[in-house]
Amino acid sequence: MAGTPVSEHDLLALGDIEITGRIMPASNATFFGTATFEGLEISCVYKPVSGERPLWDFPDGTLAGREVAAYAVSEALGWDVAPPTLLRGDAPAGPGMVQAWREPDPGQDPVDLVRQDRVPEGYLHVLDAYDARDRPVSLVHEDSEALRRMAVFDVVVNNADRKGGHVLAMPDGHRHGVDHGVCFHVDDKLRTVLWGWAGEPLDPDDAADLGRLLDVLCTRDSDLLAALEDLVQPREVAAARTRVERLLRRAVMPLPSRGRPSIPWPAF
Ligand SMILES: Nc1ncnc2c1ncn2[C@@H]1O[C@H](COP(=O)(O)OP(=O)(O)O)[C@@H](O)[C@H]1O
Ligand SMILES: [Mg+2]
Repeated sequence: MAGTPVSEHDLLALGDIEITGRIMPASNATFFGTATFEGLEISCVYKPVSGERPLWDFPDGTLAGREVAAYAVSEALGWDVAPPTLLRGDAPAGPGMVQAWREPDPGQDPVDLVRQDRVPEGYLHVLDAYDARDRPVSLVHEDSEALRRMAVFDVVVNNADRKGGHVLAMPDGHRHGVDHGVCFHVDDKLRTVLWGWAGEPLDPDDAADLGRLLDVLCTRDSDLLAALEDLVQPREVAAARTRVERLLRRAVMPLPSRGRPSIPWPAF
């Protein structure tokens, strides 16, 4: 590798993974750590498969693969939603996923709770509720390209857990999404706080990117298809393809389902 710049991906793939802390609260055993290679070091998240909390609706031991599959779709769309994420068989607490750390700007709130009559300029209203002290509040999120793409991405991967805390605000205005362990189910599981575009026409640029994704998903020997079929079940890949087709055909962002919860709990 002499002379070639070492990418974050290389560091995650080849570096020594060391655990330096545990992220609390988190629903799984989620560690903070470092990946070190040839004198370079980056911070990362590490989630060993052995620390995955069993769920009634997803097969045991599959969440790490789902996170990597979500990253592959994010890359194929070119939207940089998920930070680089890959599987490591030789990490300290056993096989699991490692993901590049993205330090958020604590001064930015792309998803927020505000007083009901105070929806800020540039934000979209999602729902009204009462807070812990019985005050009327609204759940809102910003009306930005990065968040809109994340909402589209969530429809594609069928994300069952887009909480406010799974949206990371980067200082430059970009937004990353994390925690994609409960994606790619064949049943409609979309649970998200990003409903601000529900029922709105699909953005033409997003539609163009989705069209390119669909082409790759329909190409028998594409690298993406092969990767996804290794990471999740083939019928889950087929369901993802169907969701992209449906989104493009309807050209409208879906509405929350009436028959099941469509907001994650807790929402942050
Ligand atoms: N790549 C990342 N960069 C920065 N912060 C992260 C990253 N991944 C997770 N986090 C933070 O850690 C918290 C817990 O991680 P998460 O992926 O949600 O774990 P769990 O599956 O246990 O819920 C997240 O809510 C987020 O605040
Ligand atoms: Mg989480």
